[in-house]
Amino acid sequence: MDLFQHSVHVITAHQAPTGAYVASPHFPVYRYSWFRDGAFIAYAMDLAGQHGSARSFHDWAIRTILRHARKAERAIEKAARSEPLGQDYLHTRYTLEGEEGPEGWPDFQLDGFGTWLWALSEHVQRTGVSLTPDGQAAVALAARYLSALWARPCYDLWEEHPHYQHPYTLAAIYAGLRAAGTLLGAEGHALIEVAEQVRRFVLTHGVQEGRLVKYIPPAPDPAYRIDASLVGVATPYRLLPPEDPLMRATVASIERELRCPGGGVHRYRADTYYGGGEWVLLAAWLGWYYMEVAEIQRARELLDWVEAQADAEGHLPEQVSGHLLAPERYGEWEARWGPVAKPLLWSHAKYLILRCALQST
Ligand code: BGC
Repeated sequence: MDLFQHSVHVITAHQAPTGAYVASPHFPVYRYSWFRDGAFIAYAMDLAGQHGSARSFHDWAIRTILRHARKAERAIEKAARSEPLGQDYLHTRYTLEGEEGPEGWPDFQLDGFGTWLWALSEHVQRTGVSLTPDGQAAVALAARYLSALWARPCYDLWEEHPHYQHPYTLAAIYAGLRAAGTLLGAEGHALIEVAEQVRRFVLTHGVQEGRLVKYIPPAPDPAYRIDASLVGVATPYRLLPPEDPLMRATVASIERELRCPGGGVHRYRADTYYGGGEWVLLAAWLGWYYMEVAEIQRARELLDWVEAQADAEGHLPEQVSGHLLAPERYGEWEARWGPVAKPLLWSHAKYLILRCALQST
């Protein structure tokens, strides 16, 4: 089976008629569409030439943001008055129809909107389509929302640690503001200025011992100091160039502290979710970074590892459990939510991105 074509198929099969991508179809709490997952999936589909699919996700995102515009506006007003947000914020995941989910979730997360703006501008550049008036309105609102709220602590991309600021999240916001600045033309100049403030903040507060940190202020416990998602600061968000010495040192720490020799990549040392396995999408993401710094052999090794994680049906999971960081914590998650999510569309998407990067060499 060719895992490239099969991954396109898995993603297409689980895209709702509304354009939403379900995060994982058989895992109850993942039967939603996340801005973060969806943005990377749409980007991967653009790379695979599936522009209609990407377009349809972006249309869902535009409709969803506009449907919840009043909440976003209230959040912006509250930020201007330095008030707590209460329930006034955009959610990280919505139902496939773009509604809020009925059950509680750690929803105040900002990175997904930055990633979405970045993926949308990649889509526009690749396809030459122009934004509709609704598209312009959603981009402008998402960008004003991020400009107003970027300095507030929020849940990170793993939906944890809400009392901190996260260089990963800030980098996604940086990329999103720059993308919106470009998409909105003259109107967008101020956004580029805010993006610059975000970048300066990360470089001033988000670095310790020559490496980026998982969160700000940095944790005293080293098990919370490095996070594999930090590759995103360069690839693709470009808050730093991939070859910057700070990125190189950060990635070297990820290799040393979070990579299983010859295998996959853990999220962070203290991870206990499903026992803290190796994440397929992180292995592919690290490979994508290596392609950007022309370390092709390393990228290829990661690709081979990812491909070996597909089951007989060609499905990639969220994480694999052969080398757990906290094996004693696996059972409680399985009892709560069942086996690890599979297929996870975001894993397939990151695999497609790495395959496309390798094909272009
Ligand atoms: C992960 C998120 C992801 C979500 C849906 C969560 O467990 O921490 O990063 O967006 O699953 O895939």
